[in-house]
Amino acid sequence: MSQPFNAAELAASYASKSPQDILKLAFEHFGDELWISFSGAEDVVLVDMAWKLNKNVKVFSLDTGRLHPETYRFIEQVREHYGIAIEVLSPEAAAVEALVKDKGLFSFYKDGHGECCGVRKIAPLKRKLATVKAWATGQRRDQSPGTRSQVAVFELDAAFSTPEHPLYKFNPLAQMSSEEVWGYIRMLELPYNPLHERGFISIGCEPCTRPVLPNQHEREGRWWWEEATHKECGLHAGNLITKG
Ligand code: ADX
Ligand code: SF4
Repeated sequence: MSQPFNAAELAASYASKSPQDILKLAFEHFGDELWISFSGAEDVVLVDMAWKLNKNVKVFSLDTGRLHPETYRFIEQVREHYGIAIEVLSPEAAAVEALVKDKGLFSFYKDGHGECCGVRKIAPLKRKLATVKAWATGQRRDQSPGTRSQVAVFELDAAFSTPEHPLYKFNPLAQMSSEEVWGYIRMLELPYNPLHERGFISIGCEPCTRPVLPNQHEREGRWWWEEATHKECGLHAGNLITKG
């Protein structure tokens, strides 16, 4: 980081800036130490914008072991399209094996997604973020009225910071609508996950994602057997903490 800064002040002054301006700020402060978190869905927009500003951009994806085949292929397509290395993070084998031995492969339908997401997504993410000063995600306010309507463009990560290790989180797309994201993808002819052609809007793991009906909110296709208020997997647990 070049200069120390006041997170709240910067967030306020960047609240209505463009995603590119927010990314520029991120690169200015963190350079090649900024990591983009790419899920293999429409957040390809974030990868595209970041890559156009910094060809050395660092990108990681969390491979839960349960993604759709289309998503694995898409992550590979993005890697080739931009000529970037994508760090694909795996969960700890022993932890997955213990969970599956104990509760089977579909425990989340019975007792909620928390435990499986904890093993397959959050633990690897935590391991990664412990080595990182700043990350950027494709979170948007319109993705989840219940949990993301207040997402800031920039924040001290409330979930993964520790007193010894402050972690900064950028959400450059926070203010973009789904329509704007798709306008960008189509106008610039970016590659996209073919699942979007089959009614999927929000894309997570295969057993926990389904297409939505016309006019259903995109979040309803995720963990549909659970209450709307529980539809965060812990990756963005800060949204729940700050909401109280
Ligand atoms: S989730 O928490 O419900 O799964 P969502 O699918 O809405 O998240 O994606 C929001 C942002 O979280 C993505 O743009 C990306 O930055 C990050 N993210 C979600 N899933 C992954 C993943 N598997 N790997 C890397 N980043 C991810
Ligand atoms: Fe497990 Fe579903 Fe969470 Fe993926 S989204 S880690 S399959 S509970």
